[in-house]
Amino acid sequence: MKTSPLPLPRHVAIIMDGNGRWAKARNLPRIDGHAEGAKSVRHAVETASRIGIEYLTLYAFSANNWARPSAEVEGLMSLMVDFARTECAELRQNGIRVKVIGQTERLPQYTKDAVNELVSATVAGEHMTLTLALSYGARQDVLDALGILAARVKDGSLDPSAIDETQLRAAMTTHFLPDVDLLIRTGGESRISDFLLLEAAYAELLFLPTMWPEFKPETLYAAIDHYRGIERRYGLTSEQIQSADSRTVPSLVRAALG
Ligand code: IPE
Ligand code: IPE
Ligand code: MG
Repeated sequence: MKTSPLPLPRHVAIIMDGNGRWAKARNLPRIDGHAEGAKSVRHAVETASRIGIEYLTLYAFSANNWARPSAEVEGLMSLMVDFARTECAELRQNGIRVKVIGQTERLPQYTKDAVNELVSATVAGEHMTLTLALSYGARQDVLDALGILAARVKDGSLDPSAIDETQLRAAMTTHFLPDVDLLIRTGGESRISDFLLLEAAYAELLFLPTMWPEFKPETLYAAIDHYRGIERRYGLTSEQIQSADSRTVPSLVRAALG
């Protein structure tokens, strides 16, 4: 039986990979690939916002990326400042609220300042939430949240028996995000690289051969079309899914499990 297309994904997350290989193939320094990649960020944000995606989350710098050569790390930190400064007015005008996840306290001061400014300048945006994962690693985010909960248990404000998934997720830097519906990775590799492990537990995964600097509005349109043709079952059977409204399936599962 043919199912009707899914609604738009509410939360799209992207692992923006392939900048270095794009540059290498053109005999350019890696940082030129990152600079070109910044243009794709613009395409992704504009397109997601035009389509009506509510949450777009971009993996911009992982906790492990600190181990890259220092010149590349510094180049990336400056590009983030350029992005924050050049895009701020337009993001604000388009109602895009910028948020960050990860251990952003590890960023150098000048990057932290520019990013914080961007976050404050766009705080009133209601059209789309653009989340930048900066110095982000999912395992570290879970560990940091556990530290917060443990401190609350120690000071007596949290009963250990009250710790559940809601409590854990509320203590993570991703607390304001709904679960990921569609997770895209460019660059041709099929791995998650420690991105949103809990939040993407039931996400559809899409691995694209396109290098991130070649990501165009059409790439995102095609990804969304692909997603809308999929049946998401959340552990249920196909028959159960077809008799329900697709938007309510996650809550049906929760209710059935008590
Ligand atoms: C992704 O591109 C951007 C960051 C990790 C900051 P890469 O720099 O990983 O590009 P490849 O994988 O080397 O091609
Ligand atoms: C993942 O890409 C991180 C970002 C896109 C920011 P990497 O290139 O760092 O991941 P691996 O090394 O291929 O796992
Ligand atoms: Mg890479």
